Amino acid sequence: MKLTVIGTGYVGVVSAAVYASFGHQVTGLDVDAKKVAALKEGKVPFYEPHLEELLLEQQAAGRLRFTTEYNEAIPDAEIVIIAVGTPSAADGQADLKYIKAATESLAPLVSDGTIVVIKSTVPPGTLKIVDDQLKSLGKTRYYTASLPEFLREGSAVNDTLHPDRVVIGASDAFVFDKLEELHKPLNAPVVKITPESAQMAKYAANNYLATRITFANQIADLCDKNGADVQEVIAAIGLDQRIGNHYWYPGFGYGGSCFPKDVKELAAYSRAVGEANNLFNKVNELNEGRIPRLLELYGQKIGGWAGKKVAILGLSFKPNTDDMREAPSTKVVPELIKAGAEVVGFDPRAEWSVFMPNTPLNQVEDIKTAVAEADVIMALIEWPEILSCDFGALKLEKQQWFIDARNQFTPDQVVGWGYAYIGIGRPSRE
Ligand SMILES: NC(=O)c1ccc[n+]([C@@H]2O[C@H](COP(=O)([O-])OP(=O)(O)OC[C@H]3O[C@@H](n4cnc5c(N)ncnc54)[C@H](O)[C@@H]3O)[C@@H](O)[C@H]2O)c1
Repeated sequence: MKLTVIGTGYVGVVSAAVYASFGHQVTGLDVDAKKVAALKEGKVPFYEPHLEELLLEQQAAGRLRFTTEYNEAIPDAEIVIIAVGTPSAADGQADLKYIKAATESLAPLVSDGTIVVIKSTVPPGTLKIVDDQLKSLGKTRYYTASLPEFLREGSAVNDTLHPDRVVIGASDAFVFDKLEELHKPLNAPVVKITPESAQMAKYAANNYLATRITFANQIADLCDKNGADVQEVIAAIGLDQRIGNHYWYPGFGYGGSCFPKDVKELAAYSRAVGEANNLFNKVNELNEGRIPRLLELYGQKIGGWAGKKVAILGLSFKPNTDDMREAPSTKVVPELIKAGAEVVGFDPRAEWSVFMPNTPLNQVEDIKTAVAEADVIMALIEWPEILSCDFGALKLEKQQWFIDARNQFTPDQVVGWGYAYIGIGRPSRE
């Protein structure tokens, strides 16, 4: 098949390379000329494990190319997959301006019988907007579908090659058949539903996971009041098969390019359809308030932030990515600076100055330098480099606090290294 993927970000490049690996002819199209120039040279403009190898392999095989030109990419495509960004607008609703711009550009060029697929995360009703737009631009013989994406940054290639399911939202047997055939090599369960159900499924999945994180945080906050340890509570409830022992992340709240945005968007959608007083608005509010609340609490424990030297370990929003969208560091660092602390940062991949040019941070190359003078070490993200570090060997003579923002170390381990310990929903130790 001949496919075009519009938008060569995290989702678009991975999808394009994986579809090419199935033997299809794939064109990746983006309006960002710098990104396309890098991709043409086989360079991925962001960090995603195993992606560059796959990209080079498919380019060498002549199955994958990149362009900025709609008139090169659209006329021959049997399937056009839109994977552009859908950031939240100021009121929280999904901003569909990139979807609309892409549709406007492709409409005059799309051939009869082409399937226009939306892979971006969009609210129910978006396919109708695209449909109306195509019709108003004179198109009548095309198909539309929704194909929500569930990959996780940091393991995007593996997730795309081994998905738990493929969700196809459409209203036409031809479209279901064609998209099912496209995904056949994955050998994954295929869920064929309406476009609205597919779009709701994407929001429901991410909102459930974000709610689970928020739930763990709420339990952790109560544990702080009574000396319980949230990790012990999780171990106890996780054995209940209705609950399960997976996906428990008490911490500084969820971040990243998807959860905060998808919760805000479902909350805004709820308000727009008259369901303002529901869970999603509350989850968003709790998550937004979490970092200032915890920093205030920890400030009291350590005798105030003013004048303290703080080492922030982990600037990306999760391990194995350089993506800093809604990373906890982007909230923690400005709050600490405001409170008078002196902050040093370390991350194996993320570059603070690129993502946060207006908030100066001394980003250093290794953990040893970051913690060299620190009064407080804050382990924000579970990068393997941070998890495997022997912090005992780095301990200074003076009293130092170790804040484990993801409960990745045991209190005994941290105290054994010689630090005073603060964890999430676990008793502090000095
Ligand atoms: N990143 C993730 O982990 C992830 C996972 C699942 C779903 N999603 C969803 O997938 C979509 C894309 O996310 P992403 O993280 O890949 O975004 P991204 O910001 O990394 O990439 C989007 C790309 O679209 C391009 N673009 C914008 N307008 C365009 C146009 N008119 N024509 C051509 N290209 C255009 C941009 O230049 C950019 O390169 C979003 O809706 C997101 O919610 C993302």
